[in-house]
Amino acid sequence: MKYSALKGVQDILPPDIYTWQRVESAAREVFSYYGYQEVRTPIIESTAVFARSIGETTDIVEKEMYTFSDKAGRSITLRPEGTATVVRAYVEHYLHNLPSPQKFFYSGPMFRYERPQMGRFRQFSQIGVEAFGVSAPEIDAEMLSMVHVLLGRLGLMELTFELNSIGCETCRPSFMRSLVSFFSVKLTDLCPDCKRRYAVNPLRILDCKVNRCIEMKQSAPRVSDYLCSECTHHFGQVLSRLAALGIPHMRNTNLVRGLDYYTRTTFEVTTEHLGSQKAVVAGGRYNRLVEEFGGPPTPAIGFALGMERLVTLLKDREDTVVPSPDVFIAALGERAITEGFFIAERLRARGLWIEAAYDGSSLKSQLRRADRLAVRYALLIGDDELDSGRVKWKNLRDSSQGEVELDRLEEFVSSLFSDKRS
Ligand code: HAM
Repeated sequence: MKYSALKGVQDILPPDIYTWQRVESAAREVFSYYGYQEVRTPIIESTAVFARSIGETTDIVEKEMYTFSDKAGRSITLRPEGTATVVRAYVEHYLHNLPSPQKFFYSGPMFRYERPQMGRFRQFSQIGVEAFGVSAPEIDAEMLSMVHVLLGRLGLMELTFELNSIGCETCRPSFMRSLVSFFSVKLTDLCPDCKRRYAVNPLRILDCKVNRCIEMKQSAPRVSDYLCSECTHHFGQVLSRLAALGIPHMRNTNLVRGLDYYTRTTFEVTTEHLGSQKAVVAGGRYNRLVEEFGGPPTPAIGFALGMERLVTLLKDREDTVVPSPDVFIAALGERAITEGFFIAERLRARGLWIEAAYDGSSLKSQLRRADRLAVRYALLIGDDELDSGRVKWKNLRDSSQGEVELDRLEEFVSSLFSDKRS
């Protein structure tokens, strides 16, 4: 019986894994400059955690969640995103009692039952951050600057930073009234989903992907025209901080995002290189969510970057740097194989990556293998070498070679790699 992975999920294998690791370690490092601490939250939650926060009438909750009943009949959902989970943890563990701001990052798999295509998977990985307790526009700009620094470090400078403000509980109602009255005369032309959205959550019509709805929304009222003075001021400050930092960005008045919890600033960092899946990074403010989860009023903002999308962009532009072993021990004969085994262990204890041949194949085939692995040095051990107490070494990059006494071997090999450990 031969099995294959499910549709919309993927195995991440070498050499791709090295690009993943490069992104992960760059993110860790850059986030640490900004004071983000790692949190690891469960992959499963009560369904209500996501349904209430992301919104009952969003595509994610309506169509895309992996929801099942556990053996006790509880409704459980595989997390489709990280924000709701982190907010649940923030409130559950009273992290709001700690000095503000609290800044967290997380990474790991998310699950959405979407139609798979380039850049869109059913299991995908996000690295996300959430900052709690700051309402000032500086944190919005700081977060976008952090994304800019991270992408710059990865060599991705040409992505577009798109921003919008979708207002707050003061200004959103008048926008919603205009939106409802705009669509009320177009109801018959809306797709069946949007007809339903019109009744329960008209804002969601704005992220419908059906062509005739996309066309209609071109002339729909824009939330940017309805912002209250506080939201206008906040957004203006965010934009001016970004300009002062020299971070190129554009205002996209259509950017409403597909999750209900956002207030004020929303943003996406987009590319034209991934077909219709343009957003590589996406996020925004969610100033009401902590309270909705039973915590005190707490302003918050965050984003998540899609690993698969980012890695695809990186792979398209660079050869993956694959690490290679330091030393290959080629052993001829049983005695040499055994000695090679012990030498390998002793050299590994000195922090070197050692590959050793235990298969008794010819020297030629062992060296071919070493070559394929792009090893730097080979040690050649056979009966003669063991008898004479001297081992041959060969630099496989420049073909220089020599001999070293067996009892000085570890020290000698170590000295060849002194740069590696300094
Ligand atoms: P989101 O826009 O749903 O936001 O997802 C963020 C990013 O995850 C997207 O821009 C994309 O790169 C990636 N992504 C989403 N769905 C898929 C998929 N099916 N396949 C591959 N990649 C995907 C959130 O998840 C929010 N929690 C972000 C946030 C954090 N807002 C505030 N804090």
